[in-house]
Amino acid sequence: MDVLQSLDRNNLPRHIAIVMDGNGRWAKERGQDRVYGHHEGVISVRDIVNASAELGIEYLTLYAFSTENWKRPKTEVDALMELLVNTIRKEAEELKKNNVRLHVIGDFKSLPEICQRELDEAKSMTAMNTGLNLVLALSYSSRWEIVEAVKNIAVDISERKINPVQIDDKLFNSYLNTAAFPDPELMIRTSGEHRISNFLMYQLAYAELYFTNVHWPAFRRQNLYEALLNYQQRERRFGKTSEQIQTNDPHHV
Ligand code: FPP
Repeated sequence: MDVLQSLDRNNLPRHIAIVMDGNGRWAKERGQDRVYGHHEGVISVRDIVNASAELGIEYLTLYAFSTENWKRPKTEVDALMELLVNTIRKEAEELKKNNVRLHVIGDFKSLPEICQRELDEAKSMTAMNTGLNLVLALSYSSRWEIVEAVKNIAVDISERKINPVQIDDKLFNSYLNTAAFPDPELMIRTSGEHRISNFLMYQLAYAELYFTNVHWPAFRRQNLYEALLNYQQRERRFGKTSEQIQTNDPHHV
């Protein structure tokens, strides 16, 4: 049966996070350079964004550029930034039309100015949209985000805006870049690597992890449906027993 037809529309994750891996390998397998893989990867981004919006997914976070990616050869970094600027410029109208709201997490100020401008414009163009929230992680890493949160908490303590006894999960979360978003229930990583790679480490605490060997440029909506079907076959226990979950009874022993 068609995978899409088998999906339970009442049991979809609110938030899907994706590590888009394998652009370079996909290109190499075709005798092309790595940048060709990134260009093809944009086609997958478009398809997965549209499919997520059609399914009614509320949040989709894509790991587009990590803090560590700055260490790649300058030609590749420049090509990725140019691709980002051109893609945002080209797609902003489409996002607006499709009721998609754009957000960015990461060290925004470290991005080239032209990138910042293009992203700011697309963010304001789509600010009133109420459908899918598309979150691009750019110059992002979890350790950077957590350290920033700790610094900002320390500043607020020194300025007596908060008291250390107030610090709990909820307060800490409010200092993260993702404060306005629910935690992802599903994390997908393409291209056969079984790692988190500094991506949303705090937020993924209870996420289901799904790994596929498919490289990102080949990952299209049918692959997303398969990941979602796999997610729906799992039992999410949050530390409780299977019996508690099945009987919906928190006191079941
Ligand atoms: C990982 O593949 C991919 C990236 C570092 C960049 C992802 C960027 C895009 C898909 C295009 C731009 C995105 C948007 C949102 C417009 P890799 O290069 O690490 O591949 P490899 O592991 O095979 O070398």
